[in-house]
Amino acid sequence: MRPMSLSLCTILLPFLYLQICSIASKSTDPSPSPSPWPLQFHSVLFMNNSGTLQKLDLWYDWPNGRNFNIIQNQLGTLKYDLEWNNGTSYIYTLDSNKECRVLHFSVGILHPNWLDGATYLGQEHVDGFLCNVWTKVDFIWYYEDVVTKRPVHWLFFNGYSAHVMTFEVGAVLEEPHWQAPVYCFGKEKRPLLESLVTASSFGNLLEMFPLPL
Ligand SMILES: *[C@@H]1O[C@H](CO)[C@@H](O)[C@H](O)[C@H]1NC(C)=O
Ligand SMILES: *[C@@H]1O[C@H](CO)[C@@H](O)[C@H](O)[C@H]1NC(C)=O
Repeated sequence: MRPMSLSLCTILLPFLYLQICSIASKSTDPSPSPSPWPLQFHSVLFMNNSGTLQKLDLWYDWPNGRNFNIIQNQLGTLKYDLEWNNGTSYIYTLDSNKECRVLHFSVGILHPNWLDGATYLGQEHVDGFLCNVWTKVDFIWYYEDVVTKRPVHWLFFNGYSAHVMTFEVGAVLEEPHWQAPVYCFGKEKRPLLESLVTASSFGNLLEMFPLPL
């Protein structure tokens, strides 16, 4: 790439030289940045917590300040984890058990630019895709497809991992699904290990992906 664009530059007029060469040097930047998350998307993820598998439907909706994790444990319970940017999370089932826990976090959901400032680690093949890899403070390792810039995989420090199966940019879950069931209300909000969440610079990641710590 570079040798060709350089030779091209040398035969072009000076003002073109400047323009084309600055584009060329940008495309060979040795340290790329992760793509920000789309403001709204739906993703199906396969999660692996040391051999315990889950299918997770992630509905990220930044403009409306909310995020939904619908968690199917393998051959087990279906759990709903609805998170609001004001820090309130509702974690419930929709079966006859009518279970609901209301948690309050001191932070909201992840900002679309939450990967800003991540440390670039180079390229690696994961799940059959060539990926750029970054880490943020040895808390999470994030793998993004070099070509499509879609996330492929991420891995938390404790071994909890996600494999991205679908990534639908712009998909939004229909409004009625964002209503927590009536048995969630009238309950006291429990602060969730406030010290853990605030001590970690990843409080909002912990809200979005309640880690099996
Ligand atoms: C899940 O992760 C464990 C390591 O924590 C690994 O041994 C196992 O093969 C993984 N299972 C699947 C289905 O990927
Ligand atoms: C946060 O917003 C949700 C949804 O509107 C609401 O149910 C909840 O009570 C709010 N929490 C606080 C602490 O205001």
